[in-house]
Amino acid sequence: MAKIRVAIVGVGNCASSLVQGVAYYREINDNTVGLMHWDLGGYDATDMEVTAAWDIDERKVGTDLSEAIFAKPNCTAVFAQVPQSGIVVRMGAVLDGMADHMESMPADRSFRVAKGGQPDKADIVATLKKAGVDVLVNFLPVGSEDAVKFYMECALEAGVGVVNCMPVFIASNPEWEQRFKAKGLPIVGDDIKAQFGATIVHRALTNLMRQRGVRLDRTYQLNTGGNTDFLNMMDRTRLASKKISKTEAVQAVLAERLADENIHVGPSDYVPWLNDNKLCFLRLEGALFGAVPMNIEVRLSVEDSPNSAGVVIDAIRCCKLALDRKEGGALIGPSAFFCKHPPTQFTDDEAQRMVESFIHPAPGLAGTVKCLIVAAGQGTRLRDVAPSKPLADIKGVALIERVIETAHAAGVREFVVVTGYEALRVEAFLEALASRRGIDITCVRNPDWAKANGLSVAAAEAHLGEQFVLLMADHLFDPTILSDLLARGGDPKGAVLAVDRRLKSPLIDPADVTRVETDALGAIRSIGKGIAGHNGLDTGIFLASKALIAAIRADLKDGGEGGISDGMRRLASAGHAHAFEIGDRFWLDIDDAVAHGEAERVTA
Ligand SMILES: NC(=O)c1ccc[n+]([C@@H]2O[C@H](COP(=O)([O-])OP(=O)(O)OC[C@H]3O[C@@H](n4cnc5c(N)ncnc54)[C@H](O)[C@@H]3O)[C@@H](O)[C@H]2O)c1
Repeated sequence: MAKIRVAIVGVGNCASSLVQGVAYYREINDNTVGLMHWDLGGYDATDMEVTAAWDIDERKVGTDLSEAIFAKPNCTAVFAQVPQSGIVVRMGAVLDGMADHMESMPADRSFRVAKGGQPDKADIVATLKKAGVDVLVNFLPVGSEDAVKFYMECALEAGVGVVNCMPVFIASNPEWEQRFKAKGLPIVGDDIKAQFGATIVHRALTNLMRQRGVRLDRTYQLNTGGNTDFLNMMDRTRLASKKISKTEAVQAVLAERLADENIHVGPSDYVPWLNDNKLCFLRLEGALFGAVPMNIEVRLSVEDSPNSAGVVIDAIRCCKLALDRKEGGALIGPSAFFCKHPPTQFTDDEAQRMVESFIHPAPGLAGTVKCLIVAAGQGTRLRDVAPSKPLADIKGVALIERVIETAHAAGVREFVVVTGYEALRVEAFLEALASRRGIDITCVRNPDWAKANGLSVAAAEAHLGEQFVLLMADHLFDPTILSDLLARGGDPKGAVLAVDRRLKSPLIDPADVTRVETDALGAIRSIGKGIAGHNGLDTGIFLASKALIAAIRADLKDGGEGGISDGMRRLASAGHAHAFEIGDRFWLDIDDAVAHGEAERVTA
């Protein structure tokens, strides 16, 4: 398989660790240590080479990459021999890459700008093209707003994907993201989470407290280090976006946001002798059973730059996979798993599953079938929380946006949403979402929204192919349920329904859930709210064919209500309704304030 051609902007400590890492794994050919994936979608950890690099430091510009990565002020661990690469580090455009205070610091610890001319956009674009670059990796210092935007313009013009390792917001800025989408170029960002760093440990502990019912009252994360990243951040005016990025990464996994005065997360001090060793001090204070106080303190010591490279090496490969698949825009799952400030936050568990779904798209129907989402109902039981159920806010993201992102992560690319109650408002939201995220969404209005939900399915018939995914706008779920369902394939004369066998799940409202009875081979015998002798629950996730619509219409003709379950019952009696086992995977029907609270608790 072709190598991934990478361009590096900023040959600092993180770049050093990345280049060393590729050499290390080439040399020892050992896939047992330090990697989340040896093979990622057909690319192994050594399948990349740097074909262009830019820096501004006089000790790096003009030297071979294999020497520049060890030149001062780089100070990270040396763990691999790197052979001559033949790639000479080029002079970059300085812009705001060099903080003023850097000049007054000792040369061995700080940047020194190389003399001579600087390239313009045309020079960089020409080099990116000549070097056949697939992915540009941005390792510029925190606060380099202008420089980052300059290099992003170059990437867009040269037609290369981007991994944005630092906190100038590009992937998570809708306007920039849209520009990558429009050019069909993928971007993973923003601000890489380290492999086992302060952010992921802080998130894991915060999540653990949430899962165990412990209320988090106050927390801090103090980070100290002695590399140029920490030195650069001594200029607090450069820090604004880093602070947002790091703080939001923790706030996102909390059940309730902490007031600003109760959370402090940040780069805290520069201690030169620590070099690239980062020391992080974490404290979480909370309340246990009976509001009895507890606290935990953690001291984490990590070499900062290899810790980032262990994640960047996967982000680059995901970016290349998206290029291969001609998929542009922000990669939602990979960005959420690999970065602190992605376009949409998910818990680390959710994000990891999204990454696996992205790497292993379901064969068969993923990317080929449309997804019909029923969003027409009134949602009266959620009225106190939101006037329109699909737009109910769950941690800052509308419920229907979460459903669409989840299905997108599972490999669905085209959406048809049936609206009804509050149609104008829902349609306006979806139009804005489609343009913000570059997702293909068609709205279909169901004038009979107050009647049975099968009429919404029938209303969309003209927009659907022979088979389609059918989802409910108020059901959250693990994306692997859908990707596995797509991999399983459907019944061209019927429908397959994802079924949960955990009949006593605390997440279920027994009075409202639709019940399913199957035979031992998974054929559905009966389905409905009131049926007795059930052995499964309807999750609202279907892979259907137009036979379901025909069955709904037949039910109406015979005087039935025309609900989805009515259609499924008819398919069942013809032997064409099947159950798909979801195992212990997550799904949640958000019908009332209790379920909404649960959704807020389990999502990021
Ligand atoms: N180490 C981690 O775990 C980690 C995690 C998340 C994010 N990051 C971010 O990644 C970025 C890189 O970190 P690092 O430790 O390698 O920093 P670094 O200071 O070692 O490297 C930055 C490099 O950029 C060069 N540079 C400055 N201005 C430039 C310009 N205009 N054009 C080209 N090159 C320029 C510098 O000379 C230097 O070589 C930082 O923004 C950091 O905050 C690091």
